[in-house]
Amino acid sequence: MAGLVVHGAQWGDEGKGKIVDLLTEQAGLIVRFHGGNNAGHTLVVGGEKTVLHLIPSGILHQGKRCVIGAGVVLDPEVFLMEVDKLAATGVDMSPARLAVSYRTHIIMPYHKLLDAARESAKAGAKIGTTGRGIGPCYEDKASRVGIRAADFLDEELLARKIEHALCEKNALFTGLYGMEPLKTDDVLAALKPLAERIKPYIADVSAMIQEANASGVGVLFEGAQGTHLDIDHGTYPFVTSSSCVISNAASGSGCSPRELGAVVSVVKAYTTRVGSGPFPTELSCKHGDHLQSVGAEFGATTGRKRRCGWQDMVLLREAVRLNGTTGLALTKLDVLGGLDQIKICTAYRYEGAEILYPPQREGALAHVEPIYETMPCWTEDVSKCRTWDELPKAAKDYILRLEELSGAPVSIVSVGPDREQTIYRS
Ligand code: GDP
Ligand code: IMO
Ligand code: MG
Repeated sequence: MAGLVVHGAQWGDEGKGKIVDLLTEQAGLIVRFHGGNNAGHTLVVGGEKTVLHLIPSGILHQGKRCVIGAGVVLDPEVFLMEVDKLAATGVDMSPARLAVSYRTHIIMPYHKLLDAARESAKAGAKIGTTGRGIGPCYEDKASRVGIRAADFLDEELLARKIEHALCEKNALFTGLYGMEPLKTDDVLAALKPLAERIKPYIADVSAMIQEANASGVGVLFEGAQGTHLDIDHGTYPFVTSSSCVISNAASGSGCSPRELGAVVSVVKAYTTRVGSGPFPTELSCKHGDHLQSVGAEFGATTGRKRRCGWQDMVLLREAVRLNGTTGLALTKLDVLGGLDQIKICTAYRYEGAEILYPPQREGALAHVEPIYETMPCWTEDVSKCRTWDELPKAAKDYILRLEELSGAPVSIVSVGPDREQTIYRS
């Protein structure tokens, strides 16, 4: 049975959490395959809001198994806080339904310190990271000095690896950033009680996916961040440190790309971005204020105000191309209602030419001029619509135009944060 991949088509916060929660109905195993607690995925069920940073967004469906793949970077403290918080609300958080791969890399205290020190040392060119130690943890993974969940099972190895990592980290802390060095014993002592609690969750996630496939249990792969934050294909250097395109669903969880089936690309009805970096359709006018305030556009992880702008079809077309989208899940349609007009960026003007895909050179996206077409908006409140036919004509026309310009069908329309505020088209 082919898996279902849900991922972000923009710069994150598209509403992936809501869509994963919805589509969990069709799956038995939900796998987070990359990123860490830089993510904030929001689920609203019957008016109750849950924000998840590491635990897969299928967790509210009792009986479904949620697993964290090798491609994720896991902060033990955050993981356990999330486990405890959910358990306190009555969710079964036992190792029978939650697992962490042996190969998942661990975010260590020195990763967080390094992330913060680097950002504050950068004068004008801050990435605007979430400060969660994501980049430094992925760096250690690539440098082959990372700590993995499996190391919790071998204390001697764990101590040796921490000591080795600290040689270099402490040289940076003291020599470059004027900070105090960390001691191996202190780091180990703080980690030990967390590691003890995480040990029962450590499992062979790759084998679990294989078993699920063999027994016909549907697998849902949950992406974090978004295509344009991808380390290779995003707006480098203003990106995160993992691969956010769906090909990583296979390597980040431990299965063959042949196991990936339908690809649901989640896209907001407009565009938002948190942190620094180019944003061609960004608005600093009453329309941008409308999107920010009506859309309650504050980051679910850091609480930062999200930058807002019109829908950018150049970026969406690129996301559809890179991910092989089979269906778009269009979220936050309700937020557009009441505007005097809607603009869609259909192409860019760049160095005198009209282009349909993002320019390749670093920094070039900051110099494109969006080419817009304007469409009428609607005044009706669409948040109570539950079928396609109930939507106002202007809203339907907007969606149909997005389909036409992106080349991908809109199969789900979300008209509010709640699980129920959803229109299925196919
Ligand atoms: P994710 O990181 O992609 O899971 O998205 P976030 O949870 O960070 O941000 C999406 C925000 O939009 C959350 O507050 C959701 O509850 C909310 N949301 C999702 N879909 C809709 C929708 O259709 N309408 C409105 N108004 N809010 C939505
Ligand atoms: P979800 O899964 C939005 C952004 C940060 C920053 C850049 C690098 O909720 O969609 P990092 O801490 O990853 O090194 O920061 O990436 N970023 C996100 N923006 N949603 C996210 O996740 C993000 N995860 C990282 O704001 O610009
Ligand atoms: Mg988010």
